[in-house]
Formats: sequence, C-alpha cells, structure tokens
Amino acid sequence: MNRNELARIAQAMVAKGRGILAADESTGTIKKRFDKIGLESTEENRRAYRELLFTAPGCAEHISGVIMYDETLRQATRSGERFADLQSRLGIVPGIKVDAGTKPLPNFPGEVVTEGLDGLAGRLKEYHGLGARFAKWRAVIDIGAGIPTGTCIESNAELLARYAALCQEAEIVPIVEPEVLMDGAHSLERCEEVTSAVLTEVFDRLYAHRVYLEGIVLKPNMVVSGQKNATRAGPQQVAEATVRTLKRHVPSAVPGIAFLSGGQSEAEATLHLDLMNRIGGLPWALSFSYGRALQQTALTTWGGRAENVAAGQREFLKRAKLNGLAATGRYDSGLEKQAA
Ligand code: 13P
Repeated sequence: MNRNELARIAQAMVAKGRGILAADESTGTIKKRFDKIGLESTEENRRAYRELLFTAPGCAEHISGVIMYDETLRQATRSGERFADLQSRLGIVPGIKVDAGTKPLPNFPGEVVTEGLDGLAGRLKEYHGLGARFAKWRAVIDIGAGIPTGTCIESNAELLARYAALCQEAEIVPIVEPEVLMDGAHSLERCEEVTSAVLTEVFDRLYAHRVYLEGIVLKPNMVVSGQKNATRAGPQQVAEATVRTLKRHVPSAVPGIAFLSGGQSEAEATLHLDLMNRIGGLPWALSFSYGRALQQTALTTWGGRAENVAAGQREFLKRAKLNGLAATGRYDSGLEKQAA
C-alpha cells in the first residue's frame, strides 16, 4: 500500500472549494429518477445523462471527484472518450460505488446491512485498471421505535472497516459512508445521539482494521430533525449540532468530510454546508458529496431532451458553484435567485 498516494488522492477529493458529484445511482435508482421525468431507463439514456453532467463546461472548478456506477465507469462520451479518462484529463478523480446495496438484517425487523464484500478485492483491482482511484460503500441506519440496535450499528461498522481496508490495499481511497436516514419523525437530538453512536463504532472498527485515516474521506449525514417532525430544527441549529458531533467523533487525521444530501432540498443542503464552514476552526475540510442536491434541477430541466442539454448543464454548474462557495463559507442565499 502506498500511503502517500492514498493521502494525496484523499486531499484532492476535498480540495478547497471543491466537492464530489455522486452520480452512482444503481440501475434501479436511476430508473426511479427517470420515471419522474417520464424517460425510459435505457443504457443509452443513462449514458447520455451522465455525459451531460460530466461534460458540463468548467465543472472541474468545483467538482473534485465523481462517483460512478459499474455500468457508467465502463461507458464513454458520444465521441468515444471513456468517462474516467475524461475526468482524469480535467483533474477530476474518478470513483466507483462498490457496495451491492442493502438487505434486511435477519432477526432485526426494520434494519438493514450492506452487502458487497464477496470478491471485492478482485473487483477493486479491475476498477483500478479502469481508472477508479476512490470507492464508496454506503451503510444505512434508520431511526425508529427501538432502532437502531447495537447489533445493526456494529455489523455495518465492521463491514465499512473491512471494505476500507480492502480499498487501501488496492490503492483506492475509501469513502466511508455511514448514513443515518432523515426519514421519520425523530428530533435533532435523537439524530445527534444516533450519529454519535454510529461514528464512535465506525472509527473503532477502522482503528481495529488498521485503516490509514489520512487516506479516507468520511461521508456522513448532517445532524437534522426527521423529515416527518413537525417542528424541524433550523439551519443554524443543524450546522452547530453537526459540527459539534463531528468534532467529538472524527479524528483530525481524517483529511476531509464530504456530506451526503440525503433528501434535503438543493438550497437547504448548500445553506447547511455554508453555515458549518462559517463556524470555522475545523480540523478537516468540510465539503459535499451530493447526489440529489446537485442533480435535481439539472435532471428535470434536461427532461431527456437533446435540445435541453445545455440548460441542464447550466443548472448543474450553478449547484456545483454554490456548493463550492459553501465549502469555503462564502455562499449567499441571494445567489439562488440568479439565473443558472
Ligand atoms: P444524496 O446526496 O442524494 O443523498 O446521494 C449521495 C449518495 O451518494 C448516497 O449514497
């Protein structure tokens, strides 16, 4: 394992004013997104949509890395340049989702565990050959009556750590993603409590598996109230609770934290990130690794029509730029009104 190389890649992924585009929707998930715009999920439509995002002019200014799905990593632009080659040429680090999704955790109703370790070492080797320099594995923790249990948290944390160790062995930076879902009616305090327990366990297992912390990127949820909570905490409260929780549980050896958006609106996800960076005095970079919060408007503006590609790209670039500003605490919500 080349530790210097891992640290170099991880730092590039969270470089100042830049963040990660999560475009790694599985075939099932992208179908759901396309259903909303009435577009059939064919391999060509998926390719065309990813080409729209990856070729958005100047996107490298604010996008440091792209997470792709297996199919996407093997695809190319219409002119025949492989997506991973295009990204590398632009100074964007190509990444790959390597987990195989979640399955119910036996004996623990309502809880899930992430699959994908079988054969992972071999797949990582192949992905490295295809140009991927970082990977992603998402663990999912739900909050509800009597959950999460310790068993669910421990199982998921152990898997994240084994995945991370395998990645580093293959000279691939692991994005370690323990997502505490924002579905449900729970309070911000409850989210803070669960996120704290999850992060404690994750870093315990990363330590036990001798994972090199300088060579990972953490992708956590923000500490927010559940979406079904009638009295949701405001943005400043979210920012303070999230920073407090991360300071308590994330070692300063970790170069950067890139949040998932998890169902927050585009503007909400940007504002939260900005407020956190304004708090300042943080030992790690605080950036973004958004899926929906970077793509929502771009996808609907495109609508699957060739004549809307440029307009879709402008919407994507607007979100990339505003989140780039938020990653340095220089966003202004007034910018939302400006045309893309
Ligand atoms: P969202 O930002 O839409 O939550 O997606 C990020 C991601 O990669 C989830 O695994």
